[in-house]
Amino acid sequence: MTHTVAPPPEHPASAGPVRLLSGWARTHQPTDWAAHSATYGPPPIPRRTRGQGDERLIGLVDQAGLRGRGGAAFPTARKLAEVRSGRGRAVVLANGCEGDPGSNKDHALLTLAPHLVIDGILLAAHAVGAGETMLCVHRGDPLVHSLRAAIAQRPNEPLLPTVVEVPARYVSSADTALVNFLTNGTAKPTQKSPRPSQRGVRGRPTLVDNVETLAHIALIARYGPEWFRTCGTATSPGSTLITVGGAVRLPGVYEIELGVPLGHPLRLAGGPARPLQAVLIGGMGGRWLPMPAAHELPLTEEDCRAAGGRMGIAAITALPAGACGLHTTARALRYLAEESAGQCGPCMFGLPAIADDMTDLATGDAAPEDLARLRRRLGVIPGRGACAHPDAAVSLAATALDVFADDLHAHLSGDPCPPGSAFPLALPRHRPDASHP
Ligand SMILES: Cc1cc2nc3c(=O)[nH]c(=O)nc-3n(C[C@H](O)[C@H](O)[C@H](O)COP(=O)(O)O)c2cc1C
Ligand code: SF4
Repeated sequence: MTHTVAPPPEHPASAGPVRLLSGWARTHQPTDWAAHSATYGPPPIPRRTRGQGDERLIGLVDQAGLRGRGGAAFPTARKLAEVRSGRGRAVVLANGCEGDPGSNKDHALLTLAPHLVIDGILLAAHAVGAGETMLCVHRGDPLVHSLRAAIAQRPNEPLLPTVVEVPARYVSSADTALVNFLTNGTAKPTQKSPRPSQRGVRGRPTLVDNVETLAHIALIARYGPEWFRTCGTATSPGSTLITVGGAVRLPGVYEIELGVPLGHPLRLAGGPARPLQAVLIGGMGGRWLPMPAAHELPLTEEDCRAAGGRMGIAAITALPAGACGLHTTARALRYLAEESAGQCGPCMFGLPAIADDMTDLATGDAAPEDLARLRRRLGVIPGRGACAHPDAAVSLAATALDVFADDLHAHLSGDPCPPGSAFPLALPRHRPDASHP
């Protein structure tokens, strides 16, 4: 593995590192193949080890401490090693679906730096000894065309990914849903074991990694783990793309160092457009945290967990004072209920029930015993679906009851917020031009 290429220059106007978006920072253009290869050269894959797997590359990713950027912060090297040691020729699936409507970071990355992701796919395929690679995006996404064009710009490389269009539903981008779709055509999640890394697409060991995770692998393979660790914290090293939405002046996708306080990306996004009462962290399936208390919260998975949140996918939505957190949450729960794959009882019946309960609390149609029933429901749903979808909805609802406790008491005392005070959480899609490195 060579580390001789100079790391990309950092963006002078940025208060933090710009790694994944350095091409965009320099030129404000998506990086095409000519610009990408001039900056980075070819992905450092030694020819003689093709097809065998590469322990050395997995070791570099391990030393870098890279954790997945698709929501669960799973150690990437551990998954690579598991796939490499699986039975049968492995498959690599790059997850570029970005099903959460509160997140835009994968769309920005795939638009602005597609070749970094493709390099990451090729390197991951080399690391696990894969015989096939795919890049999954939602059906109908304009990225389908731009990614196919990017892949066509480098025709002589082996193992280039096939772009696969997946049904554009929230849960169809869960790893097991992708595996099912590619195996039997049904884009629905299934039980958590065996994991795709053990038994995935057509029974083969399958690496499902978020596209941002793969792009970080492309940089680690070139510049090494020590370079990767020059930003971030000891347990959450590196940078991450983050979507900042809601009541900020410059909503968009930014690159930040892991561990910076939550106020930092809010500042990058121009600061609050109005006084803030709370932030939703982790996208539509995320958790509420109160402001200003959350302002100094370090943005790592472990710090967010300690504060009762989850970093999940890095997406924050700033809720302004005056918007109703309960109405906003009720609307998000309705969306999540409608996106259930409808195959596990607690998810299929439980999510509409908690969406109804939250709507009643929001509109002032609930009594204290209804609140008690909602709390009971929130206690019995988690862990009972085949995937994590219902657990995310429960966390969203439970944190809303805590963070908007004052509103809750007002609503229960006959003083609800007016209809129309819900704040929109979903972003307009496919807006990489709104990215501000
Ligand atoms: C309902 C649901 C939806 C998901 N949607 C996405 C998604 O859109 N993109 C993504 O990368 N991971 C998504 N995930 C997580 C994937 O299952 C998987 O953990 C991830 O792609 C692994 O990548 P990483 O290890 O690089 O983070 C979702 C999980 C669930 C349960
Ligand atoms: S928990 Fe919900 S979304 Fe997940 S598999 Fe079951 S029904 Fe589908």
